[in-house]
Amino acid sequence: MSPLLSHVIQFECIEFKSGVWCSKEAELVKDKRVVTLFLFVEVERVSTGCEPLDTLLNGGVEKGVISNFYGESGSGKTNVCIQVSAKVAENGGKVAYIDSEASFSPERFMQIANEDALDNIFLKDVTDFEQQDETIEGLENLVEDEGIDLIVVDSLVSLYRLKVNGDNAQEVNQELSQQLSTLSGIARNHNLPVLITNQVYTSFDEDGLELVGRDVPKYWSKCLVKLSQNDKNVRKARIAKHRSLPEGKEVLFEITDEGLVKSSDSGLF
Ligand code: GTP
Ligand code: MG
Repeated sequence: MSPLLSHVIQFECIEFKSGVWCSKEAELVKDKRVVTLFLFVEVERVSTGCEPLDTLLNGGVEKGVISNFYGESGSGKTNVCIQVSAKVAENGGKVAYIDSEASFSPERFMQIANEDALDNIFLKDVTDFEQQDETIEGLENLVEDEGIDLIVVDSLVSLYRLKVNGDNAQEVNQELSQQLSTLSGIARNHNLPVLITNQVYTSFDEDGLELVGRDVPKYWSKCLVKLSQNDKNVRKARIAKHRSLPEGKEVLFEITDEGLVKSSDSGLF
């Protein structure tokens, strides 16, 4: 085997073992030779079932990472979760759906997808933060046993918000971080998208809103999309953080009986 070929093989082993999906550059030094390799592996995405959101995200939510849709109440977070789940389930994929607010509505789901698709939704209602902990800890088994294609947690932080106070913040933040670490590990190990939602509160920062949980969900979410609505019920989705898309890219959409569709309104926000 030529020295160059041995470098290539070594490099491929390192890269694919660690499951890297985006373009990478690496330098390997062996026998005083330096080999620079470029590896381009396409990021896989899952369609959201909503044309403007797919346009925003270059095709859909990324496999292998956590995508976080955040915004005020009524901005459309749950609708996004139901829409993406409906799209995956209609295509025969299976969805693990953790619902901490009893907001998943089978009727709403069946407005968007056919009734059979509902069989592909594994719904788990959680009512306190410990139960959310246990459910997320047990997710990997479900993913392996059922061949789950998408994980949804709507909302990740509503039960966290109920539990956290001035005395226990460090400990509860640690629990939240552990949940996100587990979700991130499952996303990476099984190459599937994890979709979470996040409430916000008013702050004095640039856009006046801060994520509940602050830096913890921001750190773990490789894609952050801010949802907002104007007084004509037009919704805006804006990239706030992404590994490969420009911050500030935005699209408009509307929530209709049939699901999330492109908005004909130019929209004032
Ligand atoms: P919170 O969970 O309270 O934080 O809100 P959210 O961001 O999850 O908002 P959600 O996705 O629940 O959006 C609620 C809005 O969706 C409502 O105000 C309605 O305007 C709209 N909506 C929900 N269901 C339907 C429907 O069947 N038809 C139409 N046209 N609109 C709907
Ligand atoms: Mg909701």
